[in-house]
Amino acid sequence: MTARSCLSIILAAGEGTRMKSATPKVLHKIAGLPMVAHVARAAEAAGAGDLGIVVGHGGEEVQKAAQGFAPEAEIFVQSQRLGTAHAVLAARAAIARGYDDLLVMFGDTPLIEAGALASARQKLAEGAAVVVIGFRTPNPAGYGRLIEKDGKLVAIREDKDCSDEERMISFCNAGLMAISGAVALELLGKVGNANAKGEFYLTDIVEIADRTGLNVVATEAGFESVLGINNRVELAEAEAIWQQRRRRSAMLGGATLIAPETVYFSHDTEIGADVVVEPNVWFGVGVTIADGALVHAYCHLEGASVGPRAEIGPFARLRPGAELHEKAKVGNFCEVKKATVEKGAKVNHLTYIGDARVGAGANIGAGTITCNYDGYSKFFTDIGEGAFIGSNTSIVAPIAIGARSYIASGSVITDEVPEDALAFGRARQKTLPGKGKELRERFASAAAAKKAK
Ligand code: UD1
Ligand code: MG
Repeated sequence: MTARSCLSIILAAGEGTRMKSATPKVLHKIAGLPMVAHVARAAEAAGAGDLGIVVGHGGEEVQKAAQGFAPEAEIFVQSQRLGTAHAVLAARAAIARGYDDLLVMFGDTPLIEAGALASARQKLAEGAAVVVIGFRTPNPAGYGRLIEKDGKLVAIREDKDCSDEERMISFCNAGLMAISGAVALELLGKVGNANAKGEFYLTDIVEIADRTGLNVVATEAGFESVLGINNRVELAEAEAIWQQRRRRSAMLGGATLIAPETVYFSHDTEIGADVVVEPNVWFGVGVTIADGALVHAYCHLEGASVGPRAEIGPFARLRPGAELHEKAKVGNFCEVKKATVEKGAKVNHLTYIGDARVGAGANIGAGTITCNYDGYSKFFTDIGEGAFIGSNTSIVAPIAIGARSYIASGSVITDEVPEDALAFGRARQKTLPGKGKELRERFASAAAAKKAK
């Protein structure tokens, strides 16, 4: 079979008032990615060709976001919200280019899977003119119902237009449709608005196609994958479903999640085999975990990479640009930002490493701070291979600490330290024998005199 050409259109002109948000509904995120981008990804994964997004009045924000997640997408503006068929026709010029398949999706149905889209297109390839993705639910109120006659789909009736008998039907329209490109404009052109809402319903093309003798088919998807998001409760439900799917794929991919329900992934988290993740871990956007790494409990990562057999936490925070090489260790209550921790280096306790390189095998003592910021600019700290930084050291950048050098604990280091040097940056200790006892007695008698008054 030669590959069929396809235009995928995502409808995103809705106002989303129930989100009660200054952000357009379809830009609300699931796993760190806007809902509409999830839909675009599914279409892409299904090999669904060119992408168009229909935005509404004030859709500039969606358009701007699309430049990030789908730079090739064509944006169409539906300036008046007159219904889903009308919205699809906002992309008339693109449809008229003549595609084999036209796929219509909603921007607020983020959990749709590529498989469902691909199988709808497969039905077109087998001769259907219109393919509807349906689902079954015990609570069909609000959805369009799939009306079947002799086991064949003949119409979709919107909830408000249903007879009492039709309202009992539990087979519903998910809203995703595949339409043969050859007849799409003709079918859409015949849609009227004589219905309860006075809108041009995309769903009407089912009845129009059936009456014209064209083949109309319903496929079925699981309820979860066609969940439409209208408010933040549903947004959280979708997030939960997404997370569940991802945890499962991580585990099937060879990662151990000791308490999977407490581990949160982003849309782009990469996690290798034989990684162990302890409870309560947050993977923000842009995280890669290599094979065999160990992530202890309560870690928070974002824009970071953890190398093979590296170990972090408990309670480690890796911020954007943190790069841990093989067998590096970042321990409890440490923060690493825009810094490389090279092979086998250890940053084990209560430390901040920012804008820095920690050379291979270096050991950073507890409470060490790279002082990287003067209130205006950020400066770089270079710590050489095998350096030993004593506890509670402040390293004032810009600065270089030589390989295998030794820094005395409690130092404030402001000048470059050469290789193999020993550096002290603190006042010398003074010890006065007997003075402690003398001081204690003086304080005690002063307190007693005060009490006697
Ligand atoms: C739609 C379906 C219904 C289905 C339900 C599933 C129609 C007529 N009805 O109903 O059969 O069961 O979804 O959730 O298609 N949109 C525009 N421009 C418009 C109107 C809508 O872009 O003029 C977009 C919305 O942003 C949304 C989608 O189309 O993403 C669906 O519109 P909505 O008003 O939510 O339709 P429903 O009444 O939910
Ligand atoms: Mg809706």
